[in-house]
Amino acid sequence: MSSRLCVVGAGWSGAVTAACLANLGHTVCAVDVDKDRVETLRQGQAPFYEPDLDDTIARNLEAGRLSFTSVLAEGMADADAVMLCVQTPAAATGEADLSALWTAVRALGPLLRPDVMVITRSTVPVGTNAALARHFRKEHSGTPVDVVSNPEFLREGHAVEDFTRPDRVLIGAADERAGKAAAALYDGIERPIIVTDLETAELTKYAANAYLAASISFINEIANICERTGADVSVVSETLALDRRIGPNAYLDPGIGFGGSCLPKDLSALITTAEAHGHEPELLKAIAHVNELQPKRVLAHLEEIFDNVIGLDVAVLGISFKGDTFDARSSPALAVIRLLSNAGVRVHAYDPMADGTADGQLEAPTQLHGDAYAAVAGCHALIVATDHSQFKELDLDRLGGLMQTRVLIDGRNVLDPDEVTRAGFSYVAIGRPQRGD
Ligand code: UGA
Repeated sequence: MSSRLCVVGAGWSGAVTAACLANLGHTVCAVDVDKDRVETLRQGQAPFYEPDLDDTIARNLEAGRLSFTSVLAEGMADADAVMLCVQTPAAATGEADLSALWTAVRALGPLLRPDVMVITRSTVPVGTNAALARHFRKEHSGTPVDVVSNPEFLREGHAVEDFTRPDRVLIGAADERAGKAAAALYDGIERPIIVTDLETAELTKYAANAYLAASISFINEIANICERTGADVSVVSETLALDRRIGPNAYLDPGIGFGGSCLPKDLSALITTAEAHGHEPELLKAIAHVNELQPKRVLAHLEEIFDNVIGLDVAVLGISFKGDTFDARSSPALAVIRLLSNAGVRVHAYDPMADGTADGQLEAPTQLHGDAYAAVAGCHALIVATDHSQFKELDLDRLGGLMQTRVLIDGRNVLDPDEVTRAGFSYVAIGRPQRGD
């Protein structure tokens, strides 16, 4: 059965959710306070790069199932359910900052009839949805409002695919009826739908991201041991992935650490939740600690090759937190750039998608270049810090010819060691044996 839905927040998660729910046949109006963003979306364009999203938006706009507005009352008119898709970034203390969520909830105020279900898509700490339910009940003089937790498991760069063909859909509700009503929104998606209580759903989202973070810190730790023993982490991780208890999609690619707007902040929010409930989360803290150390491997490699790094010119290819995305929030590539700059290296950065200008991410004196070849010109070393597909296509001979010394540190293990050494480079990667002179 198709429903009328109001999606609050048309950022990355909200825009994907709205477009994909409209694609399932629901009538969806997404609301955002940013008028420019609303205007862009109304033209059938996402204000950020996400494969297949523009198409999905345009198709559903045309079919009359999807609309965008900056006026909440318009979005809420006739809505059967409202989905909260606002940001819950990390506060300075590590816990989730819920101010945007509560601002949205307060704005709903009288626009929310008690028969409209409230669905939280944002990642929120355990207990938040129960607190929302108490808030709405009070606002409606004791009449309960159904509050449902429906965390998203979307990866940037794969969000439309992850929505359409998810491994599972997770729904938390205080009673079976509300859970079933929320699950019905996903009719047409032939995947397991887990319906549980609010607290379990909230915690599962954090557990999922912490588990992914754990796999990455685990393989990075193994990679560091490989470097010291001459073992090759690529073979180690390929072999682990063949174990059916681990699997081919496991997060076992070593590198300079995990970043982005989800894994680091959700791990730290889970740590603060555990501490607030009197549990010392030793393992979670170790996962975060390994990740903080990992960007330092790049500087350590540089110091092993050049006795003195002060005054070196080094090109860093990649600013985004992972390949093929524009997003540089909590990017380990930025951590590498900061470490190098603080060590006295002159950094020449290039990224095909991120410009590093948001929130002053890329600090002076880093020089930003318009392409990879301009970035490496005259440099002593080249560091690959993001696994953008474009970097796999680079002309290594041309790069080498432009550099003072042919040293390449592959912080993402994306290049083929044979090709790099054939182009005359010394090649150092994460957890792979060193190649070349
Ligand atoms: C992550 C989760 O994968 C999603 O399931 C979740 O819904 C989302 O957070 C969220 O909470 O909203 P995302 O932040 O888009 O998605 O990024 P991932 O593709 O998971 O990558 C996270 C980081 O781990 C990146 O820096 C990536 O380069 C790194 N990574 C990933 C590795 O270093 N090694 C790997 O093997 C995999």
